[in-house]
Amino acid sequence: MLYANHFQMKTEPLTSSSGAPYYEHQDSQTAGPRGPVLLQDFILQENLAHFVRERIPERVVNAHGTGAYGKFTVTHDITKYTKAKLFAKTGNTCRVFARFSTVGGEKGSADSARDPRGFALKFYTEDGNWDLVGNNTPVFFIKDAKKFPDFIHSQKRTPKDHLKSATMMWDFWSLNPESLHQVLILMSDRGTPVGYRHMHGFGSHTFSMINAENERLWVKFHFRTRQGIRNFTHQEAVMMCGENPDFAQQDLCEAIAGGNFPKWTLYIQVMTEEQAKHYRWNPFDVTKVWFHDDFPLIEVGELELNEIPVNYFAHVEQAAFSPANLINGISFSPDKMLQGRLLSYADAQRYRLGANYHLLEVNRCPFGFRNYQRDGAMADSAAYADLPNYHPNSFDTIKPDAAYRSFEYETESNYISHFNRNLNDDDHYTQPGLLYSRAMNPTDRENLVQNIITSMSKISGEKRDEIVNRQLCHFFRANLEMGMKIAKGLQVTIDSSMLNHSKI
Ligand code: HEM
Repeated sequence: MLYANHFQMKTEPLTSSSGAPYYEHQDSQTAGPRGPVLLQDFILQENLAHFVRERIPERVVNAHGTGAYGKFTVTHDITKYTKAKLFAKTGNTCRVFARFSTVGGEKGSADSARDPRGFALKFYTEDGNWDLVGNNTPVFFIKDAKKFPDFIHSQKRTPKDHLKSATMMWDFWSLNPESLHQVLILMSDRGTPVGYRHMHGFGSHTFSMINAENERLWVKFHFRTRQGIRNFTHQEAVMMCGENPDFAQQDLCEAIAGGNFPKWTLYIQVMTEEQAKHYRWNPFDVTKVWFHDDFPLIEVGELELNEIPVNYFAHVEQAAFSPANLINGISFSPDKMLQGRLLSYADAQRYRLGANYHLLEVNRCPFGFRNYQRDGAMADSAAYADLPNYHPNSFDTIKPDAAYRSFEYETESNYISHFNRNLNDDDHYTQPGLLYSRAMNPTDRENLVQNIITSMSKISGEKRDEIVNRQLCHFFRANLEMGMKIAKGLQVTIDSSMLNHSKI
């Protein structure tokens, strides 16, 4: 079925934005048929003034995206892990808003570009809104928030000529070897999914769950697509970027409009605090996965998307997700990237949407909220009315509830320093090597190698050889065969010193 973008029919008279009906919308009021135009035509002023204020800052990353509402249903009992009310019994449901996005492109860029895909979910739960702001990949390029702006700069545009630059991207990746795992996923065909319905979603970070006995477990979230994984090859993705830059948006809208509601199954992986101390990988390092053999997937529930928002700008553009929006029973972990993200999202949204972004329909907790923050641009009275605006007070009965006291724990060390992200966690190669040799089939491997060659061939300038050689060493360390194939494709002659240098 072809998706028909239609408008709602209205028959009421045209009005100004203050509600006064008016007649002439085509022509300005002038002195005589040839003008000049009169200042008293305030409709003209209102139209032009509102028009030049239509744009708000786009998201600094993940600017281009698509959103839909839906429903989450709990299908399996996980009360032994979490006291979150949503999971209190199987069959519980809650409304959800999802936003999928590309990362590096600007708003309006092509949505089949090679890029990770954002997979952001807002669960409107009785405990408050719970946001899981993940990607379609289980890992990320870096493991410390301090590096995020540098990383993003290298993936966006050059300062001088405002062009995307393979030189800049590979320079950053080659100097930050912890990126290798995610680079291999990005350069495989998973970097160009067929729309948003055919990809998995991941919370990526390690979170914690706290149960009714106040026991804490470490958790990872996985949403596995029920539509099956489908990817474009590099050539197909390039063609789709030209033929239909809005392919993913259209695909989601058409599927939902046709009643073909996309679904994902939520699984968690669970690790005890004791297991975390002895696992061979740092469980709080977002460049690493927890192997499913070590920590099997536990089925939890079903996500279904079934409603395209009635207005894109109001709901999708103004959606504000934050990894800090966690709820009683689901909490943080010491993952350094996650900790950095806790600050950044609300900060971005106060700038992008204003101090009262949480009052917008898509962001507002439908179960209400009670605090003493007041006023600011675009405050609406429905939220606060004439309630007291300070605490404590003698008039309302709002009280902090000890049942929601946050989880108390001892930190492992009192030693404060800057911990080198690569010396303290330095195996960047084993997991990417296994991804190549065990998880990928021969076609995946062949496409990965070709995609890397295509991308690295664009590295240019006086630093080309240095960047290429440094990155090749990372490939050699992960898997010699992969490295040799890429080197051959790039016509680099390998000498034994390079191979020796690249030994782990
Ligand atoms: C420390 C590292 C990071 C920082 C500082 C950061 C910062 C940001 C900021 C400022 C935004 C725009 C928010 C807005 O304007 O509403 C954003 C969007 C987003 N980020 Fe991150 N990010 C980081 C890492 C990550 C990671 C590791 C993931 C995934 C695992 C991720 C997934 C997303 C997604 C999905 C969005 C789009 C949310 C939406 O659809 O509105 N980010 N990020």
